[in-house]
Amino acid sequence: MREIYADHAATTFPRPPEVVENMVHYLRDIGCSPGRGAYHKSLAAARMVYEARGLLARLLAVPEPEQIIFTPNVTTSLNLVFKGLLAEGDHVLISSMEHNAVVRPLSRLAREKNVLLEQLACAPDGTLDLLKLRRALRPNTRLVVLTHASNVTGTILPVYEAGEMLAGTDTFFCVDAAQTAGTEVVDFAALQCDYLAFTGHKGLLGPPGIGGLCISRRAATVTRPLIEGGTGSRSEDEYQPDFLPDKFESGTQNMPGIAGLAAGVRLISDTGLAVICKERTTLMESLLSGLAEINGLTIHGTKEAAKSVYTVSINMAGVDCSDLSFMLDQAYGIQTRAGLHCAPLAHKTIGTFPQGTVRFSLGYQNTADDVAAIIAALREISAF
Ligand code: ALA
Repeated sequence: MREIYADHAATTFPRPPEVVENMVHYLRDIGCSPGRGAYHKSLAAARMVYEARGLLARLLAVPEPEQIIFTPNVTTSLNLVFKGLLAEGDHVLISSMEHNAVVRPLSRLAREKNVLLEQLACAPDGTLDLLKLRRALRPNTRLVVLTHASNVTGTILPVYEAGEMLAGTDTFFCVDAAQTAGTEVVDFAALQCDYLAFTGHKGLLGPPGIGGLCISRRAATVTRPLIEGGTGSRSEDEYQPDFLPDKFESGTQNMPGIAGLAAGVRLISDTGLAVICKERTTLMESLLSGLAEINGLTIHGTKEAAKSVYTVSINMAGVDCSDLSFMLDQAYGIQTRAGLHCAPLAHKTIGTFPQGTVRFSLGYQNTADDVAAIIAALREISAF
């Protein structure tokens, strides 16, 4: 049976050969720590990190590559932001489509540190009316956190417009690009945000365990590091260096991860985001129109390819979502993610809590044939 992987919102698969090869190249031919030695292999490792930062800076329009901090994942990046910035009495606004990576650390800060957490209610299709943001802003609003696109419905939030609204104010702005880096235009400069959290193992086609945070100069000054330790710089000093990226990068880097991520970013840049976005829109249009013709399906989200990323959630009348996901895999080789997708707040917003949905999330490797097979499988199951 042909396998169709439709869980790219969780992680990308299969990884391009270039990604695997660059990871193997690092492990086999370089293998050493960057910034910790003057011998040629250590210098080669440092060059690899330098190149990876440069590639990411170009793709994400970050003015200076040092403003990109490598972390293991978006979750770590967001924890760094929340725990490094917020203090007692700070007001924080989040959308009601956020993932637990936003909700959980902020809920703890609300409970234990008296941070004032407020949600901006999104519509049942996941969209956010920015008037709600404007009305909710207070003099003590320290931070606004918005996901660029929902990991449940794929709905794109108006992050560029929010950045415009917040520009020049004292409120810091954080964008979670977990679902968009590598598949949408993610432009740090145009977003006018202070923090842009991204992961390497989804749209950027890299391996798990590598991600990052793009940080504005003003945010870098006031944000405390989450982790402190050896940086290979200012080793005589008992305090963490205060310059970028060392302020936020301690310990031995995930070099295989950085090697794989660099190869993924290079591939995306060579292909061109415009091409990737066009392919995505075409595939999503045919997936959405095919789904709309199947009896008994509820489609969640905007139902418009131009307003969402590669992701859509559905329910089938009378069929439990876990059973549907299991059936799709066992009988048709179609791999999806069912349930709450670590985003119960988003499911409450779209009206699918606690049962959840079946999520189809496509990647750049998926084809029109895959979409046709998904539609045919769902049609067959719904006709039982
Ligand atoms: N990895 C998470 C998901 O599957 C965000 O949606």
